[in-house]
Amino acid sequence: MSDPLLALRGRRIVLGVCGGIAAYKAVEVCRRLVDAGAHVAPVLTADATRFVGALTFSALASEPARTALFDGPEPIPHTHLGQGADAVVVVPATAKVIGKYAHGISDDLLSATLLATRAPVLLAPAMHTEMWEHPAVQENLVTLRRRGVHVVDPDEGRLAGGDVGAGRLADPARIVVEVAGILAAAGDLAGYSFLVTAGGTREPIDPVRFIGNRSSGKMGYAIAEAAARRGAAVTLVTTIGRPTAVSGVDVVKVETAEDMAAVVVPRFADCDVVVMAAAVADFRPKVVADEKLKKRDGVPEVVLEPTPDVLAELGARKQPGQLLVGFAAETEHVREHAAAKMAAKGVDLMVANDVSAPDAGFEVDTNRAILLYSSGSSEETPLLDKHELAGIILDRIVQTLGKEA
Ligand code: PMT
Repeated sequence: MSDPLLALRGRRIVLGVCGGIAAYKAVEVCRRLVDAGAHVAPVLTADATRFVGALTFSALASEPARTALFDGPEPIPHTHLGQGADAVVVVPATAKVIGKYAHGISDDLLSATLLATRAPVLLAPAMHTEMWEHPAVQENLVTLRRRGVHVVDPDEGRLAGGDVGAGRLADPARIVVEVAGILAAAGDLAGYSFLVTAGGTREPIDPVRFIGNRSSGKMGYAIAEAAARRGAAVTLVTTIGRPTAVSGVDVVKVETAEDMAAVVVPRFADCDVVVMAAAVADFRPKVVADEKLKKRDGVPEVVLEPTPDVLAELGARKQPGQLLVGFAAETEHVREHAAAKMAAKGVDLMVANDVSAPDAGFEVDTNRAILLYSSGSSEETPLLDKHELAGIILDRIVQTLGKEA
């Protein structure tokens, strides 16, 4: 088996250390990162220096520990650190730094560096159980995860003061493996061109009414943002106006299935991978009223006609080397119905989700999927945050692209 820490070799890691009793374990994280060949730049908050000495990190790391935004030799240390980092790792991440980061507050060197970096960030929280479980902390973490920040959840165990519960810093060895995994994944889609669709189409009945669906775009955005973070050139074709949390994504706003087809189909030839996560209407009103339909005229008869099937069109045009990923939104016989759609539309990887489950499919932050492969094999995921599921889908895409190369 290859060395799981190989991705750390020669990489520049900013190691943020905050003020908590677990700060002493950051010393071991620092040593392990350096042992694995990483260049480690430690940044200690003022509170951290109450628990551990800057000298300890200066002695172990690749450069002297920094403790202040001002008063040091560099005029703008946060941009220098943030822009030069391959990853920023915060051990332990206290409730305070999590809150500041989630709300864009930069009042010291570490919080300024977190805002100044585009590198992947890993937080390793540690705090008392009551603080860890507080809705404010959990909601801040949801916000940060949504923005693509990685979090290595704390373990359960003995805490400061003899208490026992959730909130104990994850094992330093595990934190280092997580950093290596993140670095290995970052950039593995460089050179690939992705097109991702998100949101639900709206098929007009008249100037104010439409036939739509419950898609929030969360699943599609999570995939587009994760692909961009991993180095792909990404176009996101979306019915949702929201900008992406990652810069550099080419966002194209559409409304109807026909709009989506008009944007996606001509671009397909230039794409390596298309992921159709959008909920595209199958039917639209045959006639769209020019003026708002009047109640006094009685109940209108809306006759429907089929929309263009974008995915099936792409499946028919697919060339060797191109990868087509479809989603199947099902409420019964999920696997069977998804497999039938996969075959009918020429899809290489079908992500089937049961949209009747309250915690999966439309609108919610979580999803659970059956991944169907063209080889006939399949894989079921547990209930995951949509960002985590996006990561798994991209891992499988990378594996498939690797096989084809
Ligand atoms: O946006 P969220 O709130 O996060 O919800 C996520 C989701 C439930 C929308 C997503 O996970 C999902 O299942 N997307 C696909 C929804 C859908 O349209 O499924 P379908 O089984 O009806 O269609 C199968 C595939 O064909 C889909 O990839 C769809 O994009 C595509 N299609 C469908 C009809 C059509 N006219 N053209 C298409 O391209």
